Amino acid sequence: MPSEPMPSDPTPTEPMPSAPTGLAVEMRGIYKSFDTTSVLRDVGFEVAKGEVHALAGGNGAGKSTLMKILQGVYTADQGEILIDGQPVTHSSIFEAKAAGIGMVFQEFSLIPTLTVAQNIYLGHEPLRGGRFINDREARRLAGEVFKIMEVDIDPGAVLGDLSTAYWQLTEIAKALAQNAQVLIMDEPTASLAKHETESLFQLVERLKAQGISIVYISHRMDEVYRIADRITILRDGRRLFTKRLTEVTPAQIVEGIVGKAVEGGLEYKKRARADSPTALLEVRNLQSGTRVNDVSFTLHEGEILGLAGLMGSGRTELARVLFGIDPLDSGEVLVRGTKVDLSSPRDASEHGIVLVPEDRRRQGLVLDHSVRDNLLLPVLGKLKRGPFVSDRAGRSLADQLIERFQVKVANPGRPVRLLSGGNQQKVVIAKWLGTDPDVLIMDEPTAGVDIGTKSEILETIRRLADTGKGVIVISSELPELLAVSDRVLVLRGGAIDSQLERTDIPNEESLQLAVQGV
Ligand SMILES: Nc1ncnc2c1ncn2[C@@H]1O[C@H](COP(=O)(O)OP(=O)(O)OP(=O)(O)O)[C@@H](O)[C@H]1O
Ligand SMILES: [Mg+2]
Repeated sequence: MPSEPMPSDPTPTEPMPSAPTGLAVEMRGIYKSFDTTSVLRDVGFEVAKGEVHALAGGNGAGKSTLMKILQGVYTADQGEILIDGQPVTHSSIFEAKAAGIGMVFQEFSLIPTLTVAQNIYLGHEPLRGGRFINDREARRLAGEVFKIMEVDIDPGAVLGDLSTAYWQLTEIAKALAQNAQVLIMDEPTASLAKHETESLFQLVERLKAQGISIVYISHRMDEVYRIADRITILRDGRRLFTKRLTEVTPAQIVEGIVGKAVEGGLEYKKRARADSPTALLEVRNLQSGTRVNDVSFTLHEGEILGLAGLMGSGRTELARVLFGIDPLDSGEVLVRGTKVDLSSPRDASEHGIVLVPEDRRRQGLVLDHSVRDNLLLPVLGKLKRGPFVSDRAGRSLADQLIERFQVKVANPGRPVRLLSGGNQQKVVIAKWLGTDPDVLIMDEPTAGVDIGTKSEILETIRRLADTGKGVIVISSELPELLAVSDRVLVLRGGAIDSQLERTDIPNEESLQLAVQGV
């Protein structure tokens, strides 16, 4: 047995009584460093057959790295891995796959122009009599996998025509078609609507009943309690504890992740506001395609406006129009009383409007550029001295932003893609706040960030409003919306369905009903 970092946890390897016997995965004494940065230290991790095992921890704690070692993407510097009791020394994804490890990637590895079936069998087309099977056969086999999963997808559909939820099901089917016994899901619900999340959970339960093990990485406590049997918490590259969910409270988990008790971040705090605040942003009869329908509202100085609505209700589309990404067909936008033209993001940011987008990896970052360059991108103009950017001023601003948002980064000169997912999110938020905008639009600002950072981001939003900025927050997490909004607009079919003062919303349920339109 490897030595355990926490003496308070004497039984981390306790078997699951209800699960089929045996361990699907056993990792012992895993160490991993990148260059001189130690990322994992003496980590043990076990998953029983048919178990759903949650893996939690702060941004940069090492969750994705540990799972990439299990998948053969990285090789551990030290330690042992046993799969189904057999020691493996896999040093490639292919060997890990052959040993039964499947991964449901957060950034999908699928090809949108191919059909669902082609994606599932891409790279490992089944052989029939020594020949690659044809498309029809691939479709039939894919259909069988979907039957086992009990989901209804046409294997002949072109993937690019389907929504994110189907991409994910295709990833899962792809892993199962390769006989995966262990499925690793890294924040699988991040891009799913509520009902899609529920059907994913039901699928997880069916897979579990078939003896398949699932490692479930998530920052969402409610999900972990809903589907996991046990939870392992990593903190700063070490295993803090492994416990059954029936034996650990949410407060203990949060404290384990953050390293201290977290309180109050999600409670609504009434803020002092001016009696007749200036209108920062006035939106009148805004129309854009079919997705934004005759939207009018006013955002005042010092105000936080929440945008609620179901997937597809037009929240993101409205944000895109206000940031000059999508064109407006009619209507007008006024900033501090003056009509403005928002034909491009540059126009918008010149008028003091910025958007922290939902799809941050694709829209918010240049992944191969350094953390520092990404942070400075929107302020380059201001830092210029003649034709050159003042290097010292740039460094010091970047350092300030890193400090203020507690971005976990060893060297700001290295590419931003090397940061953990949550830390990349913080870079995008920090980058736009560095421009000192008047109006800040944040689309799902806390998706993917750990629970400690989440309350910091919400506090940052309140502080920005306290200094007179206007903030528009789009969020599917109603508790989060209720924690910060002074007013909530509920969108439906691209139009404003209702406008609620925060003080008129008694609880989450009543907002949920408004969102669902009942
Ligand atoms: N290829 C790499 N080169 C250098 N450093 C890396 C590399 N991959 C990960 N790291 C570093 O290792 C640490 C752990 O990252 P990891 O992605 O495992 O965190 P995580 O727990 O998954 O966090 P998150 O919740 O934000 O996704 C981070 O500090 C990250 O910057
Ligand atoms: Mg991660």
